[in-house]
Amino acid sequence: MNSKNIGEIVYSEDEIQKKVKEIAANINQDFEDKEPLLIGILKGSIYFLSDLSRLLDINHNIDFLSIGRFQTTEGPREKVKITKDLDLSIRNRDIIVVEDIIRTGLTHSYILKNLEPRQPQSINLCVFLDCQEQRLVDLPIKYSGFEMDSRFVIGYGLDYKEKYRNLPFVAEFKE
Ligand code: IMP
Ligand code: MG
Repeated sequence: MNSKNIGEIVYSEDEIQKKVKEIAANINQDFEDKEPLLIGILKGSIYFLSDLSRLLDINHNIDFLSIGRFQTTEGPREKVKITKDLDLSIRNRDIIVVEDIIRTGLTHSYILKNLEPRQPQSINLCVFLDCQEQRLVDLPIKYSGFEMDSRFVIGYGLDYKEKYRNLPFVAEFKE
C-alpha cells in the first residue's frame, strides 16, 4: 500500500479492539432480552460494525443506510440525502445507529430526522470517534469509542478519497 499519507498513529489496533469489546459488553448488558437492529452508516462504519456485531452475544440484526453529500447552487452548505435506504422495517424496533465519526453532527441529525417518523421503539447512537469541539448540534450519544480533535484521520473505516479504510488503526492523514 502507498503509505505516504499515513501519519502518526492516533489509536492503535490493540486500543481499538479493547474499546470495541467494552462497547459490546455495554450493549450486551443494556439490550439483554431484546433484539436490537444495528444500522451502519455506509461506508465508514463497516469495520466498526462488523467487529462490534461479532462481539455481541444477544440476538440482533444489521442493516445499512447510505448518505450522499451534494453541493447546491443555493448556498455554501452541502445538502445530504439518502442514496441507499434500509431493507428492514424499524417500526417498534430498538435501533442502534453505528457511525464512524461525528464532528458537526449535521449528518447524524439528518439521519435522525429521517428515521424518527418511521416510529422505532428507541434510537440509540453508537459512534467510534467523537469530536465534541466541532459539534454544531446537540446529540445524545449513548456509546462512544474515543475522543477526537480536529485532525483529519484515516483508517478503521475512515477514508481519504475512498482510500485507507482498511487500516486496522487510526492515523493522522499526512498531506
Ligand atoms: P459531520 O456531519 O460533521 O458530523 O461529519 C461526519 C462525516 O464526515 C463522517 O461520517 C465522515 O464520513 C466524514 N468525516 C469527518 N471527519 C473525518 C475524518 O477525519 N476522516 C474521514 N472522514 C471524516
Ligand atoms: Mg468519507
